[in-house]
Amino acid sequence: MSGHGTPIPMQAGHANPLTGAAHVPGDKSISHRSLMFGAMAVGKTEIFGLLEGEDVLDTAKAMRAFGAEVTQHGPGHWTVHGVGVGGLAEPDTVIDCGNSGTGVRLIMGMMATSPITATFTGDASLNKRPMARITDPLALFGTQSVGRSQGRLPLTIVGAENPVPVEYHLPVASAQVKSAVLLAGLNAPGKTVVVEPKATRDHTERMLRGFGAELTVEDTNEGRVITLTGQPELQPQTIHVPRDPSSAAFPVCAALITPGSDVLVPNIGLNPTRSGLFITLQEMGADLTFENEREEGGEPVADLRARYSPNMKGINVPEHRAASMIDEYPILSVVAANATGVTHMGGVHELRVKESDRIDAMAQGLRANGVSVDEGEDWWAVTGLGAGNVPGGATCETFLDHRIAMSFLILGFASKSAVAVNDGGPIATSFPIFEQLMGDLGANIERISV
Ligand code: S3P
Repeated sequence: MSGHGTPIPMQAGHANPLTGAAHVPGDKSISHRSLMFGAMAVGKTEIFGLLEGEDVLDTAKAMRAFGAEVTQHGPGHWTVHGVGVGGLAEPDTVIDCGNSGTGVRLIMGMMATSPITATFTGDASLNKRPMARITDPLALFGTQSVGRSQGRLPLTIVGAENPVPVEYHLPVASAQVKSAVLLAGLNAPGKTVVVEPKATRDHTERMLRGFGAELTVEDTNEGRVITLTGQPELQPQTIHVPRDPSSAAFPVCAALITPGSDVLVPNIGLNPTRSGLFITLQEMGADLTFENEREEGGEPVADLRARYSPNMKGINVPEHRAASMIDEYPILSVVAANATGVTHMGGVHELRVKESDRIDAMAQGLRANGVSVDEGEDWWAVTGLGAGNVPGGATCETFLDHRIAMSFLILGFASKSAVAVNDGGPIATSFPIFEQLMGDLGANIERISV
């Protein structure tokens, strides 16, 4: 439940060369889904490597409120005794999803076709984010909802008593919307179809199949057509959560801009719907290699090796790549500031409705630290100053957004003067070991008083 606590101001100055291995936490998207799908299976799902960040812990709490037995046995080792599709209990308190859009949106989907009512809320960031993108398609199943203006949280969902299956064409490229519709389709009779014009992360499809659901994916002229047969009995699973490429992005990018660095980030999931950043960095001229490439649990996995890369160039990041790196634009903009030339990032309107308006948040902080940024509604461009030439010296607002906080601290590693953030508290939502891990590599991050 980040954003409810006292702000934690932090500052990062010049880092020593970053060296060693960076063992980043489990994948956030897969961790949420492991708990949720486990709750909808009949029997015991066992999870290893679960991300124990605040977002996922809020989802664990929510699953208990819907009747599942969720237990932690050791670091990252959890079990879920599920209640089955259609077996969800009605929570007797408000479900607080903290900072997590993925948590609240997927849970709304999973309960929307059960005859129960639940009220959802979150922190100040989540309560500003659009929810009509979820409640509109859920209404097609027969679900009712009442929220604040523009569908904002707090919001109550009245699940459909007699749900009907739905065919839904995604109006935005969003894995959260796709997943919410598919999860609602689980407890509707017949076939629910989602058509996505642009591919987004496909963990829901892969994992539902793994849990025994009948789900097909077809590539057509209209895009990916996903067909789910409702009311399956989901079979409990043993899940090894891969490490999060979106968290790996931080030590990788930090190494690329910090003189003398050579960092190994082992066991990173390289699902093509998630790995756009790494291709982009290579196009910019980063010394980034994939070692020990292999398959684990049906997902491509590799060890990433990133070395200091003082000659990176700005590029035009193709719009079609946006969905596969949507969470990585903040840290990419920090790398872009240390490259030469302009990095243009288009087709990224969705960045405006993340945990913060990420274009605005990064533009404000980069400009305050001496970097020129141009922006429009769905694009932005950073004019790089070349390696080590960012003046720094300013304090950046993080707007309750973990990725904004981590990005600006890393900016400080390679800037002439230290960079501060007004609140590093939200980092705990996705990367609770960030300070320790970066410190062990050689970074110089400190908590400060203001
Ligand atoms: C996520 C989907 C993405 C991403 C978020 C995690 C998921 O959001 O930004 O961090 O796990 O499905 P959108 O679906 O809104 O693009």
